[in-house]
Amino acid sequence: MNILVTGGAGFIGSNYVRLLLEGSGDRVVNLDLLTYAGNLANLAGYEKDPRYRFVRGDICDRELVRGILEDEKIEAVVHFAAESHVDRSVEGPEIFIKTNVLGTEILLEESRAAGVERFVMVSTDEVYGSLGDDGQFVESTPLAPNSPYAASKASADLLCRAFFKTFDFPVMVTRCSNNYGPFQFPEKLIPLMIANALEDKPLPVYGDGLNVRDWLYVGDHCLAVDAVLRNGVPGDIYNIGGCNEMRNLDLVRMLVDKLGKSHDLITFVKDRPGHDRRYAIDAAKIMTELDWKPDVDFQTGLSRTVDWYLENRVWWEEIRSGDYTSYYEKMYGDGGRHTSGGPS
Ligand code: NAD
Ligand code: DAU
Repeated sequence: MNILVTGGAGFIGSNYVRLLLEGSGDRVVNLDLLTYAGNLANLAGYEKDPRYRFVRGDICDRELVRGILEDEKIEAVVHFAAESHVDRSVEGPEIFIKTNVLGTEILLEESRAAGVERFVMVSTDEVYGSLGDDGQFVESTPLAPNSPYAASKASADLLCRAFFKTFDFPVMVTRCSNNYGPFQFPEKLIPLMIANALEDKPLPVYGDGLNVRDWLYVGDHCLAVDAVLRNGVPGDIYNIGGCNEMRNLDLVRMLVDKLGKSHDLITFVKDRPGHDRRYAIDAAKIMTELDWKPDVDFQTGLSRTVDWYLENRVWWEEIRSGDYTSYYEKMYGDGGRHTSGGPS
């Protein structure tokens, strides 16, 4: 199959491109703008694979998207490209609307015109909003996004529904919980805590640290997306989750212990505005209908992740020495969340 992967130079996208190139005979075209979050180093070594082509470009560039779909005779699209960080969407929502909403609309429209046979929209559990102490999100839970990021993803998610209902376009939507693993940009909780701890910097826990996330190893997410691509029913939505709820504070403590650092590094900082309290996914549908389940248990996945960041210091140190320094200062320094330190 000729597959267009968007956002394939990011965290999950690069893990997915690797899965395709290692585990299938498919041809892969990776369209990625290389924003601050995109990094060609994530796929180093694959440039020479004859089944792989990288195109640097914007999913909002209609002519470019049309050209790729035609020239490469694309049969399937797996759409990861997005602005993905909630905190950045609080600072500046506009780019989230452009990339996540308009970009998705352009991909859908051009894919339909080009006769694409399968389209997977990688949405998120954040479209459901926040849970109280009990219950889980199911696919029919009403959408109630709370951050500009979540609202932009919900809009894109609903555009997919509209393209199926109106045009019978074969789109499937996945809604996954929090991913972790190699190549995650160190603005997200787990890699940020690992990198800060390794540099003996404060570990900024938002609010009371009791917010709950359901963590899934990225490789398991990629296998789920692939199952949906190959066997999902057009028009259907698939929840994907790790069956692994964890309070942020407990998770940070676990990381500190794995790294042999002091708990004194943990610093409580100002909460994220509109911070969703709890996410929990009921993934029964994909488990029963597509025979998927998370394989990597959390302790194994977390140890694997910590080892990866230990062995790939150059990868994250390079990121943290660039524009990231001003990002960190803005978000966590004076005027931001007020931690006493931060990456140098
Ligand atoms: P990421 O931020 O690591 O990567 C996003 C990629 O998209 C980057 O390579 C970036 O360069 C690219 N991109 C951004 N704007 C673009 C544009 N206009 N045109 C082309 N490429 C562009 O994100 P991630 O964590 O890998 O998430 C990937 C997808 O999965 C996103 O759609 C996100 O909403 C969704 N998702 C993420 C998680 C998670 O825990 N990380 C969970 C569920 C769903
Ligand atoms: O649930 C899926 C979503 O998971 C994806 O759609 C998003 O793209 C992805 O970024 C992620 O969103 P979160 O906001 O849950 O992830 P983040 O790593 O930013 O934060 C996880 C939790 O940790 C959250 O409760 C906020 C908290 N946190 C985060 C950071 C960066 C802290 O306490 N301190 C921090 O410095």
